[in-house]
Amino acid sequence: MKKFTNVHDIGSLKQALADAAEIKRDRFAMTDLGKNRTLLMLFFNSSLRTRLSTQKAAMNLGMNVMVLDVNQGAWKLETERGVVMDGDKAEHLLEAIPVMACYADIIGVRSFAGLTDKREDYEERVLEQFIKYSGRPVISMEAATRHPLQSFADIITIEEYKRKERPKVVLTWAPHPKALPQAVANSFAEWAVAAGYDLTITHPHGYELDPAFTQGATIEYDQDKALAGADFVYAKNWSAYADPDYGKVLSTDRSWTIDSRKMALTDDGYFMHCLPVRRNMIVTDDVIESDRSLVIPEAANREISAQTVLMRMLKAL
Ligand code: CP
Repeated sequence: MKKFTNVHDIGSLKQALADAAEIKRDRFAMTDLGKNRTLLMLFFNSSLRTRLSTQKAAMNLGMNVMVLDVNQGAWKLETERGVVMDGDKAEHLLEAIPVMACYADIIGVRSFAGLTDKREDYEERVLEQFIKYSGRPVISMEAATRHPLQSFADIITIEEYKRKERPKVVLTWAPHPKALPQAVANSFAEWAVAAGYDLTITHPHGYELDPAFTQGATIEYDQDKALAGADFVYAKNWSAYADPDYGKVLSTDRSWTIDSRKMALTDDGYFMHCLPVRRNMIVTDDVIESDRSLVIPEAANREISAQTVLMRMLKAL
């Protein structure tokens, strides 16, 4: 595997889930595989889970790990070619990438959407430059349009908790005070469709996602109707995708917050969220603290999704 940026890069999802289950049975079975290999994790944006789970996964495989927070202690990086660099950015990504590649066998990159230029975001300009110029396998640790390590962990979690072959899974928009990228929602939809789930997406008007990610899902604007009979409720906020409102917060309507009344509409459904979560905006305290909440198992499975991807990349080196 040379890159992990979306569900297609993983090949057979069934096989990937089998690999993940095998790793979960004994995550220390391959401690020699990564010996003398180095993972460089590069963060243009903050992280708790991705940073720790990916590092832990690499250590489980015997790898060395280096972490660089680009905006704290490194030279500020210019990402656009052709720019006259007379501002505060001292180094260009086109030099920085091959330099970093000298020190690493695998590179993980986190680079969020800027939410000002839709074309730039959806072309994945930063991530694609790493793939093109590093000559190393590249893992997306959340890019502008997708968060595949999270989605893979979410699907592992659903497989562990589902009570029927084809569960009803509802991806619901929920309110948030700040503009967030569409990456988690896009990615979850992409992976849930690939997994063959009965996927419904619900959101207020104006929050339609890129149709490239929602093909195969049912769109329902009435949240109560969408939640009826759900086996899993995946809550997430995202900003508007459609023009002319790209990247904007159109609503903070707290009637969309997931509370116990909403969960009572489900078929004793589980609550899911990728974290970090804003309590009593996205979900009420009682729901996230309930025995139907899977937020911690999802986070735990981030180690497993990362280890599955790293194992495959190491085997292909
Ligand atoms: N879910 C997730 O990616 O968490 P972090 O942003 O903390 O890495």
